[in-house]
Formats: sequence, structure tokens, C-alpha cells
Amino acid sequence: MVKKIMLDILRKRRSIRIYKAKAFEPEELVEQLKEAALRSPTSRNFRPWRFLFITDSAKLEALSRAKISGSSFLRGASLGVVVCADENESDVWIEDCSIASIILQLTGQSLGLGSCWIQIRKRMHSESQTSEDYVKGVLGLPANMKVESIISFGYPDEEKPPIPKAQLEYNKILSTE
Ligand SMILES: Cc1cc2nc3c(=O)[nH]c(=O)nc-3n(C[C@H](O)[C@H](O)[C@H](O)COP(=O)(O)O)c2cc1C
Repeated sequence: MVKKIMLDILRKRRSIRIYKAKAFEPEELVEQLKEAALRSPTSRNFRPWRFLFITDSAKLEALSRAKISGSSFLRGASLGVVVCADENESDVWIEDCSIASIILQLTGQSLGLGSCWIQIRKRMHSESQTSEDYVKGVLGLPANMKVESIISFGYPDEEKPPIPKAQLEYNKILSTE
């Protein structure tokens, strides 16, 4: 029988935005997420990323206002991981940060956590301030730091079914030759 551990994780993964008001137990969960992030592959192994693991509720509240819409649920999360990079360390920091972001999400899924990607790069906090500048201000990040995403985590308090296989867009696979 063919093992399909990763496919099972992928089938069950959905964006979860409603969380139980419950701290992580055991605390080791956060350690596992840290290890996963740091094991993410990067172009030429430059590892330009930096991660901020935010559990302080006042900081989560402030970060939940990072975007005009699409980030408010962060205030109900137990953890937010800010994924950023020093742009001087790699020309492909966006790819590296994106890979780390999804690895964090899939690791969270494997640990029974719900998560959602909050896009920061190229998004706006208000009409005049970018989400990135807002996040950098809240966290005191230096000018050379670029912010890709915040990944919210918590114990799921909503259920979403896997997308049925019949709904997958197999027409997007253009060639199998
Ligand atoms: C690059 C990227 C950016 C995203 N940004 C946000 C966001 O800012 N806010 C949000 O609520 N969801 C965000 N999402 C989650 C998507 O809306 C979600 O993955 C998509 O609707 C598919 O739903 P599913 O994850 O449940 O399969 C983002 C996902 C990706 C991959």
C-alpha cells in the first residue's frame, strides 16, 4: 500500500480563521514550528528570512489591523508568525519567504493547528500607509527588512471540509507527456 501522509495533510488543509481561546499545549508545538521554518529550503541556501513568533495579545491585536481587510482574525489567534527577510541577502527573498510560509502552515496542519496566510507585501494598511510599513512600525523592524506575510495559528474553532477531488482544476495541468 502506498503511503500518502503528505497528501492527507494537503487534503485536510484549509484556511482557518476562527480559533479557540486556548494557549498551545504542549508549548513544544511552537518549538516544532520554529524548527520547520528554519528547515525551509532557500535559493543558494542564503537563508535571507527572519521570523518573529508573536504570542503577546496586545501585539497580535495591533498586527490584526495591518490590512484594510483580511487580517482582523489575527487578534483571535494564539500565535502569529511574521515572515520577513533582509532584501540585501537574496534577490529571491520573496520565494524563500513564501516557501517558509507554506511550510509553517503545513507543519501546523500536521500538529492539529489551524492557520491562515495573511498577505503583507503589496497590501495597504490605509490609503496612505502600506501594510509592510505598518507592521515594521509595530514591531520596530529596520528599513532593510521586507515583510512577506503573517501566518496566524490557533486551535481550530471552525470546520471546513476538504475540497472534493472532482472540483480540482485538472485542466490546469497542461501536459502530461
Ligand atoms: C499568497 C496568499 C495570500 C493570502 N492572503 C490572505 C489574506 O491576506 N487574508 C486571508 O484571510 N486569507 C489569505 N489567504 C488565504 C486564501 O484566501 C486561501 O488560501 C484561499 O481562499 C483558498 O482557501 P483554502 O486555503 O481554505 O483552501 C492567502 C493565501 C495565499 C496563498
